[in-house]
Amino acid sequence: MHMEDLAGIAQVSADHAIRDAALGDGAVRVEWDDGRVSDYHWVWLRDNCRCPGCTHPSARERLVDILSWPEDVHPESFLLAGDGALEIVWSNGGHVSRFGPGWLRDHCYSADARVARRRTPRPWGAELGDDVPTVLHGEIMEDEAGVLRWLRHLNDRGIVLVRDVPAEPGAVRRVAERIAPVRETNFGAVFDVMSIPKPNSNAYTAYSLPLHTDLPYREQEPGYQLLHCLHNDATGGDSLLADGFRIAQALREDDPDAFDTLCEVRFSFGFIDERVDYRLRAPVIALDEEAEIREIRFSQATAQPFDIPGEQMPAAYRSWRKFAALTKDPRYQLQLRLRPGDLMSFDNRRVLHARTAFDPASGRRHLQGCYVEREEADSRLRLLQRSLRPGPYEREML
Ligand code: OGA
Ligand code: ZN
Ligand code: ZN
Repeated sequence: MHMEDLAGIAQVSADHAIRDAALGDGAVRVEWDDGRVSDYHWVWLRDNCRCPGCTHPSARERLVDILSWPEDVHPESFLLAGDGALEIVWSNGGHVSRFGPGWLRDHCYSADARVARRRTPRPWGAELGDDVPTVLHGEIMEDEAGVLRWLRHLNDRGIVLVRDVPAEPGAVRRVAERIAPVRETNFGAVFDVMSIPKPNSNAYTAYSLPLHTDLPYREQEPGYQLLHCLHNDATGGDSLLADGFRIAQALREDDPDAFDTLCEVRFSFGFIDERVDYRLRAPVIALDEEAEIREIRFSQATAQPFDIPGEQMPAAYRSWRKFAALTKDPRYQLQLRLRPGDLMSFDNRRVLHARTAFDPASGRRHLQGCYVEREEADSRLRLLQRSLRPGPYEREML
């Protein structure tokens, strides 16, 4: 994969020079050496002045109050300086702002630039088969480049197998911590998935778990999940995975009404035991502002009685069933059997996971899991990218 595929994460752009600049309607129009045209609104430029009085040079945070300059601020004059920067003298009191071409290019908000910055996860189905992105434990524990590869795949496919992890309790946490500190939840920092008496979750039984996302009842559904196999000798207990984005997209094409219902209706999810009582009403599919599928919450086990107006109930059930049916379609399913030392890492807000029932009398099955927030992984990924190639942070004044 190329760096550009992750432009939304990397925000890296090649060096470009400003060929020309002109005053347009409320904006400065910049023409670049590669032909791109970028409009920068006067209010936007004034608000983002990089001078040390407006932006603290080391904190890189804004010092100036938005109300300290008038909304009708406009350039009194502007020029392209010898070093290629755009220099503006403002109408109110002659304040001078300088914007380097690197900074301007990095923050261009033209339609094309905004498309290039978008996340572009590649959906998959059963055909991913043997091509499931895989990294070795040694690569990610010892090598920053290995972590970068891992995070890129997670971002792209939402699933990465880590092989050769020592089959020891606690190893999953050390793997997770190569990204960031783990997110503690109602199941603790590291949870043991095994069949136990009086479980507080179906996960801790030997029943099958249909395809689901974990903790859909938490406001912030955990971002990445890591599940590490310590023992898997029992009969049954195979793993299934499915790309929720792909399933949602199939539904969008097949049955747009059901798709819209899953985007609009707030289904009920919850986790209730002796110590906690989490409840959340949320749609199954969350879209971003461009109507791209961005987040999936689906779990039959932790769904609570739906609490919606009666007239919406039939459509809500029809759509929920439709989604459930699609998760069972083998075209979307990846099947695998975890062996001791295998670790599945996946985007829990995208990829659904499942296991078949197992017979605890036939052998031992024990997985350990934990979660890492996506924002932590994204931050780590940006830092790793920066170490390879300068990004906006290094280019601040260029
Ligand atoms: C879970 C879960 C899968 C498995 O613990 O949430 O989905 O293979 N476990 O046991
Ligand atoms: Zn300033
Ligand atoms: Zn689960």
